Amino acid sequence: MEFPYARLRRRPDVEAANLQAHDATDLLLVERALASGIPGAEVAVVGDAYGAITLPLVAAGLSGIRVHQDLATGRRALDLNAAELGLSGFAPHELDAELLAGARLVLLQLPKSLAELEEIADAVARWAAPDVVLVAGGRVKHMTLAQNDVVGRRFAAVQPQRAERKSRLVVASGPRDAEGEPPFPVMQRHDGLTLVAHGGAFAGAKLDIGTRVLLDVLDRERAAWAAEPGGSTAQTVVDLGCGTGALAVSYALAHPDARVIATDRSAAAVASARATAAANGVADRIEVMHDDAASALADGIADVVLLNPPFHLGASVHTGAATRLFDAAARILRPGGELFTVYNSSLGYRAELTRLVGPTEQLHRTSKFTVTRSIRR
Ligand SMILES: C[S@@+](CC[C@H](N)C(=O)[O-])C[C@H]1O[C@@H](n2cnc3c(N)ncnc32)[C@H](O)[C@@H]1O
Repeated sequence: MEFPYARLRRRPDVEAANLQAHDATDLLLVERALASGIPGAEVAVVGDAYGAITLPLVAAGLSGIRVHQDLATGRRALDLNAAELGLSGFAPHELDAELLAGARLVLLQLPKSLAELEEIADAVARWAAPDVVLVAGGRVKHMTLAQNDVVGRRFAAVQPQRAERKSRLVVASGPRDAEGEPPFPVMQRHDGLTLVAHGGAFAGAKLDIGTRVLLDVLDRERAAWAAEPGGSTAQTVVDLGCGTGALAVSYALAHPDARVIATDRSAAAVASARATAAANGVADRIEVMHDDAASALADGIADVVLLNPPFHLGASVHTGAATRLFDAAARILRPGGELFTVYNSSLGYRAELTRLVGPTEQLHRTSKFTVTRSIRR
């Protein structure tokens, strides 16, 4: 029976008429897995966006499939789609040995960054069965030879297949013996701050320029508060879309009384932020949550929200990602609470912040970055 791909949905991720919950790469990966005859218990799926790899395999009778998805939105969508179609028989995992132990077939939707691919390829070579075959696929227009090189560092044979329906599979076999520790997480020291990053974390262990600009502004603000008599620092502060946790950890270091929550929809970011908090000795004062747009946080819980939103120029659906976080900030801030945002100056978010959150003033502006403070109305 044909799998009803069209019934899959993306929610809670952005949905629109021109956005599907599956693509041709998913179909190629599914066909390949079914043709292999490998039982579900020996199959691992990595990077399934909304369930369009896992669920067709489950529907075809494979059970015990292990699945790793980085995004909280993808995990939720997979669960909702499975419930909707009455399917079960897969198990969620982090990117670890349990996901891969004994796996003989790993299906991968190629990630955006080479660092993320390197971490995944290393994990498969390190932990899966010695005869594992890694089948990685993507849309041809997004694929590069550098991806083959990264996989080739961990596998003896890497064979790109013929493109079909504008997608292509790359088949890797012969995992090389893992030497030493895994390549991630990586660590980098900056002025008074150590950042730790897994492959999929924004900016790696570098301090993003926009983040640095926001940190400088927050430092200035702190000096101004300190000069005011009776200013209290005992606040609940949320780093919304925390990445490696640079903002959350810097804030915790500068404000020993603050309760800090760092939240991100990416599992790689969450693992990185936890490691960054530990590396800076503030793990006991920062709660790190894997969540989409802080959905688990109660309305009005925050006195301060720190935000360096994702920015993607171009297609309008992508600016929706920042809007989603502005909405979330407005929801979790108490009336009178403050949202500090840094963004690319060309994006001109001030009017939107004013509309969605409250009165917004510009605190700093360079040709590249703007920092604003919005007061929740
Ligand atoms: C530009 S990065 C900033 C990371 C970090 N705050 C910093 O300044 O280095 C944006 C982050 O927002 C996260 N993000 C995007 N959409 C999100 C959502 N809906 N819910 C939670 N986090 C989200 C991304 O995973 C990414 O880590």
